[in-house]
Amino acid sequence: MKILYNLEELEIAKNEYKQKSIAFVPTMGALHAGHLSLIDRANSVAENVIVSIFVNPLQFGPNEDFSKYPRDIDRDINLLKSKKVDYLFCPNFTKDELLKIKQISAEPELANILCGKFRKGHFDGVVTIVNYFFELIEPDYAIFGEKDYQQLKIIEAMVNNLSLNIKILAAPILREASGLAMSSRNVYLNQSSRLKADEIYKNLSSISEEIRSREEIQGIINSYKEKFINSGFELDYLEYHWSRIFIAARIDGVRLIDNMPA
Ligand code: PAF
Repeated sequence: MKILYNLEELEIAKNEYKQKSIAFVPTMGALHAGHLSLIDRANSVAENVIVSIFVNPLQFGPNEDFSKYPRDIDRDINLLKSKKVDYLFCPNFTKDELLKIKQISAEPELANILCGKFRKGHFDGVVTIVNYFFELIEPDYAIFGEKDYQQLKIIEAMVNNLSLNIKILAAPILREASGLAMSSRNVYLNQSSRLKADEIYKNLSSISEEIRSREEIQGIINSYKEKFINSGFELDYLEYHWSRIFIAARIDGVRLIDNMPA
């Protein structure tokens, strides 16, 4: 695995890989088995795999966890070495530098619901960095996890709107044995909040089953909203879109998201 720290090193790598098919896996590091499954997917479609690790300041709001977002590049590099990864791109762009690149707006219809209501500007920051990395790397494929399903939809729309010649592939959510969706932010959970977090998967599974059998979606959702709130969750949303049930909830100050078909 070659590690590319800046644009000059990426340019040299591009000369090496330009004849090959390339699958790109963008990440913010703090890698876990979910990311590794995206890398497997990438290897199944292309000759070369490029992973990026970059905690993108543009997608964090002023009161969010940008400065304390988990960062451990040595651990991440070791994990990546357990897979076939041809290149790791880990630049250190500053926010000021990123404000000078082409700023992209996320499709408002997709970006103003769910997480977009609670994280103003978040998806603009995501599409801006993803488009920039697409321009720099020029992949044939890019892999995104369904854990961030809204992000996936927004990136698909961006690729469509900008007529980019990149195939976006979705990879399913990986879960802990308890059902908790794998996330870099799970490291913020202590033992008791982790136990409580397991209720998310249990309840989403029940909601999904009930929606499939009864079809009175709003009534079902309202009763589970109450259930979550009564067991101590601060709920940002519990909503149904794209034939899936979506949740964002805070447990002991840690914000978790999840979704599943329903
Ligand atoms: O899903 C993420 O980790 C980030 O939003 C992404 C796609 C790497 C852009 O910073």
